[in-house]
Amino acid sequence: MSAIAMIEIRKFPTTRLLALCLSAWVGVAGANGAAVSAPTAERIGDGMVAFLPSGMSSYPTSLALSQPPTMLGPAPAGWRLQPHYTQKNGHTIVTVDVPADADLYGTGEVTGPLRRNGQCVALWNTDNPAYQRDHGRRLYQSHPWVLGVRADGSAFGVLFDSTWRATLCTAKRIVFDSQGPAMPVIVIDRPSPQAVVQGLATLTGTMPLPPRWALGYQQSRWSYTPDTRVVQIADEFRQRKIPADAIWMDIDYMDGFRVFTFDPKTFPDPRRLNDDLHARGFHSVWMIDPGVKADPDYPVYASGTAQDVWLQNAKGATFHGEVWPGMVAFPDFTRPATRRWWSALYKDFIAQGVDGVWNDMNEPSVFNVPSYTAPEDARHRGGGDLVPGPHLQYHNVYGMLMVRATREGIQAARPQLRPFVLTRANFMGGQRYAATWTGDNASDWKYLKWSIPMSINLGLSGQPFSGPDIGGFGGDATPALWANWIAVGAFYPFARGHAIKDSNDKEPWAFGASVENTARIAIERRYRLLPYLYTVFREASLDGLPVMRPVFFADPKDRRLRGEERAFLLGSDVLVVPRWSGEGTLPAGIWRDASLVEGDAADPLQPALKVRGGAIVPLGRVVQHTGENSLDPLTLLVSLDARGQAQGELYEDAGDGYGYRQGDYRLTRYRALRQGDTLTVSVENTEGHLAIPRRTIRVQVLTDQGVATGEGAEEHLTLPLPPQH
Ligand code: NOJ
Repeated sequence: MSAIAMIEIRKFPTTRLLALCLSAWVGVAGANGAAVSAPTAERIGDGMVAFLPSGMSSYPTSLALSQPPTMLGPAPAGWRLQPHYTQKNGHTIVTVDVPADADLYGTGEVTGPLRRNGQCVALWNTDNPAYQRDHGRRLYQSHPWVLGVRADGSAFGVLFDSTWRATLCTAKRIVFDSQGPAMPVIVIDRPSPQAVVQGLATLTGTMPLPPRWALGYQQSRWSYTPDTRVVQIADEFRQRKIPADAIWMDIDYMDGFRVFTFDPKTFPDPRRLNDDLHARGFHSVWMIDPGVKADPDYPVYASGTAQDVWLQNAKGATFHGEVWPGMVAFPDFTRPATRRWWSALYKDFIAQGVDGVWNDMNEPSVFNVPSYTAPEDARHRGGGDLVPGPHLQYHNVYGMLMVRATREGIQAARPQLRPFVLTRANFMGGQRYAATWTGDNASDWKYLKWSIPMSINLGLSGQPFSGPDIGGFGGDATPALWANWIAVGAFYPFARGHAIKDSNDKEPWAFGASVENTARIAIERRYRLLPYLYTVFREASLDGLPVMRPVFFADPKDRRLRGEERAFLLGSDVLVVPRWSGEGTLPAGIWRDASLVEGDAADPLQPALKVRGGAIVPLGRVVQHTGENSLDPLTLLVSLDARGQAQGELYEDAGDGYGYRQGDYRLTRYRALRQGDTLTVSVENTEGHLAIPRRTIRVQVLTDQGVATGEGAEEHLTLPLPPQH
């Protein structure tokens, strides 16, 4: 073993996973592995090169990419980052040497630190209660992608375009050890991490703009039942004046856990329940799992069997495994006919007034086998672009193909509205179909702290819309933990409280008046920020930049910021600094503290919110749900830069539907300029033709001498500022 490999072993605890990666590393160094001749390199875009392993003449079908890459000719001369392929013991090992000073990120949904140097993850989607299986090194999703930031702030990204089971280690060299054949690698090399993530989005696609209600606070538990309890929860929010937009129905609404059915005793009239929720300004999200109860008298199973949709075992018979309903069959989503059959099931379901769908257990999780999933040799039959292949090849995209079919089904059932799908399992590029919640965490500080780097790394891996179960899923939450969690959780891109069956109640009012007050303030802050947040989501839907961003995005050249994983940015202008993070390592420059609702500054649990000097952040009124008009008055929160200037944007549309694609939106760019002791705020330009009724504009200017306020018309407004010292 080489000296470097010895050092690597001393530096990290010996785990099986790391040992695997190290042996791969040694293999590349020439001990055992058979080196494969150099891949061909083709330029596929600005600062982007695709490497095709030798013998591969064209880019194969890719599930990660949103479209086949266009080959533009040979890689630029002097291209720095190159993958090397080796074959060993039936594995394909790809290594990429990275600069010694690079900080590494990405690799998707991960436990542990934000900075991924010296980490290994297993890419094998796993139902992982409390993240305990395999020490949390594999969770529910797989993202074979690493983002690197060099000392000078320039950046690179490496995408291993393979769905096969693999491990991904990110040390001095990136090692991707796959149980499948050699597949392409794409390298992006650009001047900044933002430019690399944008490059990734041109390859893997962006999140479609979600309906605005999905950005409001969401309340879930396993399970609110019967239907009257659901309405009680909704009423409780309204009576207590805690804003919320959706209530979630977990598995117990079903008839014996049969998907696409409703329990005739506890949920006899789902249409009416949905109407009742809508009348209260709530949306509803209902769970659907992939496993279909093996019951010949159950129409979904019978039709699936008649249409031959199921995943097969190695012998070609239907594979059955145990999940909530007992033995189930699993749709083989690699088959186009299966996806069409699955999509069609949503027609009647959505007709019940269901607003959103929650796809769970889609790794897929199987209870009665040691691997917790279908056997590696289970047969996917493929079709269309997809070749037939074993579960070893398609396991990691099972959830992704499922949510693709789910989304298509909802879209077909209700073409006029934007689908909202939440998924547990997914794969690189899966942001095209569904948002993510990060599975079964637990009510413990460790998970609260992990949740921040986890969502940031998901964002850096192409998925901007994610968040954990606020308050923790497993176990009982203490009042202090729940209060701290909602205080910061109000700022995750996806903000939903959820709880395991039989745990204590975890609604905002369940822990007494003081926690309820903290929760109300936290959620009200989110609602005030929603116009800004929706603007950031819209940006993410266009250019793929994350909603929740690492602090180092504020200044990628400042190496102090590279490890900051408690504070985070929302968009580029708002910095969220949890109180428990101390001061945090914050970017240089002007960042001014903002108070958004009464009581937030005095509540010691609310994170500090800091607005970048040079930014204008649009704020709404506190409303109880996103269906209320929050923008009269519209508040412009102004934080001037050193030259006395600021700029900001507000995106508005109907909040749902597709009118915006025909120009039915308004993007307003505001500009603020200090001249002497007067501030002028004006509309710099607008885009889109949405008619905005006349409304009042309130301006709040954060200055070193306090907050100056003014009110007036949108087009042009002046206000006096306190004299500068
Ligand atoms: C597992 C999911 O992770 C959890 O959120 C859900 O409550 C249970 N399944 C029951 O459906």
